[in-house]
Amino acid sequence: MTLAPETNAAHTVPGETLLELRNISKHFGGVRALSNVDLQIKAGEVVGLVGDNGAGKSSLVKTMSGIYRPDEGEILFRGQPADLKGPNDAKELGIQTVYQDLALCDNLDAVQNLFLGRELAGPRLFGARIKRAQAEQRAREVLKRMRLDSISLTRPVGAMSGGQRQNIAIARSILWTPTVVLFDEPTAALSHTAALKVSELIRNLADEGMGVLVISHDIHQFVVEATDRVLVLRLGRIVAEYKSKEVTGETIVNAMVGGNEGVNSAR
Ligand SMILES: Nc1ncnc2c1ncn2[C@@H]1O[C@H](COP(=O)(O)OP(=O)(O)O)[C@@H](O)[C@H]1O
Ligand SMILES: [Mg+2]
Repeated sequence: MTLAPETNAAHTVPGETLLELRNISKHFGGVRALSNVDLQIKAGEVVGLVGDNGAGKSSLVKTMSGIYRPDEGEILFRGQPADLKGPNDAKELGIQTVYQDLALCDNLDAVQNLFLGRELAGPRLFGARIKRAQAEQRAREVLKRMRLDSISLTRPVGAMSGGQRQNIAIARSILWTPTVVLFDEPTAALSHTAALKVSELIRNLADEGMGVLVISHDIHQFVVEATDRVLVLRLGRIVAEYKSKEVTGETIVNAMVGGNEGVNSAR
């Protein structure tokens, strides 16, 4: 799906820098989880973020989602300084995050999960409480746009497959057309087929003009095949950056674990 620049769903200009981190550092006691991280996420691109366990990937995503406040550095959203005091600040700007645990309620159906927390927002936000019928209609629209029309709207999500649950979490993140979507390990627990479907959905978000960042351990399949650019974190620092189509999985893995072969000059 390729849309004309002026008509993309996210109302961004292709290649525009949507989210930028400058010199971000974050400590937890004596642990330096992030050191002087610079990164940019641009409209229309899928950025892969890789690194060994404890490298700082989740801390970085939580910093961009307003959950952690950096000790040093600056966050810019579409060129303007963004002081994220909490997750709501990030969401209001249009930065949505799909966490590893998905944060779905198993006993609720797809529609209830898509609107989780919003039914109770009351008249101030929406003019009227969102009624079930309206919610179902909106859910149908977003699932249709994602070509997920076959997902049941009324079955508890606890009874669904891992792939369907991941898809519902993605649908929830794009319900209000965000500008940037961050994923923590979206394909970790999925079958190969379900992972391919998720890759396709992620590519569609970028094609709609969003900027996407994806944490993944699936270097050889997902990262190499489904991203445009790869950033390698090691011990809280970005140690390498590659264009996905110009790199092999082996080179990425070497950079992750600290081998020298193929590593870009470390910053
Ligand atoms: N809330 C926290 N409190 C204390 N230490 C933390 C916290 N979050 C992360 N860390 C530490 O920061 C480092 C980076 O962790 P994390 O961002 O979870 O890495 P990754 O997601 O790459 O595995 C680790 O040493 C981890 O133990
Ligand atoms: Mg993590």
